[in-house]
Amino acid sequence: MGQKILLEHANVPGIKTYEVYRQHGGYRSVEKALKSMTPDEVVEEVKTSGLRGRGGAGFPTGMKWSFIDKKSGKPRHLVCNADESEPGTFKDRYLMEYIPHLLIEGMITSSYALGCNLSYIYIRGEYMWVFRILETAIKEAYAAGWLGKNILGTGYDLDLYVHCGAGAYICGEETALIESLEGKRGNPRIKPPFPAVSGLWANPTVVNNVESIAAVPWIVNNTGAEYAKIGIGRSTGTKLISASGHCKNPGVYEIELGLSVDEFMNSDEYLGGMMDDRPLKALVPGGSSVPILPANLIFKTAEGNDRLMTYESLSEGGFATGSMLGSGGFIVYNDTTCIVRNTWNFSRFYHHESCGQCSPCREGTGWLEKVLHRIENGHGREEDIELLWDIQRKIEGNTICPLGDAAAWPVAAAIRHFRDEFEYHVRFPEKIKNKDHFVAEP
Ligand code: NAI
Ligand code: SF4
Repeated sequence: MGQKILLEHANVPGIKTYEVYRQHGGYRSVEKALKSMTPDEVVEEVKTSGLRGRGGAGFPTGMKWSFIDKKSGKPRHLVCNADESEPGTFKDRYLMEYIPHLLIEGMITSSYALGCNLSYIYIRGEYMWVFRILETAIKEAYAAGWLGKNILGTGYDLDLYVHCGAGAYICGEETALIESLEGKRGNPRIKPPFPAVSGLWANPTVVNNVESIAAVPWIVNNTGAEYAKIGIGRSTGTKLISASGHCKNPGVYEIELGLSVDEFMNSDEYLGGMMDDRPLKALVPGGSSVPILPANLIFKTAEGNDRLMTYESLSEGGFATGSMLGSGGFIVYNDTTCIVRNTWNFSRFYHHESCGQCSPCREGTGWLEKVLHRIENGHGREEDIELLWDIQRKIEGNTICPLGDAAAWPVAAAIRHFRDEFEYHVRFPEKIKNKDHFVAEP
């Protein structure tokens, strides 16, 4: 059994309520930080822990915190990114739904470290019931004196609001999220300036994922050095993985980073192997934005190393033979999966969610969707595969925000590893129209 930091108490009856959460040691990190640590000491512990952003980018959290502009004298803000929308990713929802007070506690301790007196949780519109759970938890925290004026008599004030988005994937991009929070259309801003310098209302702002903030109480209670002992190398601590697709036991798991992909996939403690014992065909390990891995690159890297659940191992080989840990959206595919159809489905999503500000993304995602749609429906042309390659190449690296790259990478990886499947679709349109697919029948 791996160590549990975030989900240790997730199954305790009533843990959603303040009383039960408090009985299980809740809010200790706030007491410890506010009464016996300076804000900079809390930042140092987070730096020492090696915690990296759990939304997908894996940027070191302590380093991000140390970038916040403290000299300008402007108010500072902590914004929790709970706009979880990456296809295949549902771990933040689980955490907020089952242990909302862990996030509230993390928000208070982290806001203290950053010197914020006004903080926000921005949650996606589709999580309305979770929004209500958070609102209840925030009310309870105010009533118990953990939020508001002069918390624990220390002179520290903090107000915390939960703000509901309107259902746009792009609002998970931190600057689009900030625009939306300011009441505007959620268009990403050009970076730099990074939010740490100029964010919400042009004030210094840190935007952190739910899971990152929820790890802070444990780090403060147990020290950053203890946290850094869990995991391997630069992948320290635990990570929530949301597993879906053709595995026996889909769900949300907390793993110690460094666990092998083989153990995660096949042991009964985790996914328990393939549903109906069908062959494994492919894996998307970190949400729809990251490259798909074919079966021969899932358990071993091209270099012959065991593939581990770490930032480094999952990306070993670069995009030629590797992928990314990303958001931890672990999507398992068996041999009945049509990779062309799956790629078209992802492209349709990115086209729909593009904010339309930059031409390579606005036009390119539309082209990707259209060309993939015609290939999948038996109207593909010989030159379409090269056309797809060309379009994705022209999007990558040429857009304001990472949505462009996220739309390009899955297409590139699908063609790289499953070109024969695309060719089959183009060469045998009648079979495709008759649904006589290249893939095994279910
Ligand atoms: P990023 O790499 O641009 O930035 C990471 C963080 O570091 C940001 O907060 C940024 O402000 C900060 N940062 C980087 N350099 C900095 C500097 N020099 N000074 C100050 N701050 C700096 O990546 P981003 O846009 O935050 O995230 C992209 C990732 O998000 C993708 O890789 C994808 O996996 C993931 N994602 C997750 C989703 C989810 O639902 N969880 C949805 C969509 C994407
Ligand atoms: Fe908008 Fe796409 Fe440009 Fe991002 S890359 S700013 S989503 S058009």
